[in-house]
Amino acid sequence: MAAVNHEVEHLIEIRNIGKDYQSGDEMVPAIRQMDFAIDDGEFVTIMGHSGSGKSTLLSVLGGLNHPSRGKVFIDSLDLYDLSSEQRADFRSEYIGIIFQSFQLITYLTVLENVILPMAITGLKRKEKEQMAMDVLLKVGLASKADRLPDQLSGGEQERVAIARAIVNQPPILLADEPTGNLDSETASEVMELLTRLNREEGLTIIMVTHNPEISVYSNRTIRVQDGTCLEH
Ligand SMILES: Nc1ncnc2c1ncn2[C@@H]1O[C@H](COP(=O)(O)OP(=O)(O)O)[C@@H](O)[C@H]1O
Ligand SMILES: [Mg+2]
Repeated sequence: MAAVNHEVEHLIEIRNIGKDYQSGDEMVPAIRQMDFAIDDGEFVTIMGHSGSGKSTLLSVLGGLNHPSRGKVFIDSLDLYDLSSEQRADFRSEYIGIIFQSFQLITYLTVLENVILPMAITGLKRKEKEQMAMDVLLKVGLASKADRLPDQLSGGEQERVAIARAIVNQPPILLADEPTGNLDSETASEVMELLTRLNREEGLTIIMVTHNPEISVYSNRTIRVQDGTCLEH
């Protein structure tokens, strides 16, 4: 792969990022200007009101949304200098993503949902099942591996989404409002799981939320407003 910049010192760096969406005749500036760096092992919250650009930022960081301006470096690699195929390969190895709606496949069992991202690994079926069971054990759902997603509670579905995001053992986890649909008790269980993955496994986590109560679990908060960062 080309696109390595040896001057990049942090696991994740964004430089002068901007993102405009075309909406009819109008350009919507979802990200006006953002710059920050995140180190290996950090647990960072991106906090801001609805419409401030959080989901856009997360999808740009995740290699899913080409910025209009600026650069994203992950492990010194210029993410958007890669071809879309190279970027997809890089993403499946490096970045786990939990979307705002869990996006579980409703007609597949919990186990099958967790096995899905391993399609690219070339592992044998038995090995994939074993790895999926290991990660389901880690999130406390091994006994529900054969259920369908709609036979689970919201918190359990969230944990399946987490299991699916980390099954390929990526160093980075991105989570968009992971507790947005959960009651506060279930939300703290999910946050404790994320905290444990960060502390015990060294997973670097970037989590988006609009809820200040959720940000206390992380080590650092980056506040966003109208497409810019207020502090970090
Ligand atoms: N695909 C899109 N097309 C046009 N505008 C969009 C699109 N996605 C988001 N936006 C707009 O960009 C701004 C930021 O949105 P978003 O990143 O979803 O914010 P947040 O996640 O903080 O609520 C909002 O004004 C939103 O309406
Ligand atoms: Mg959002």
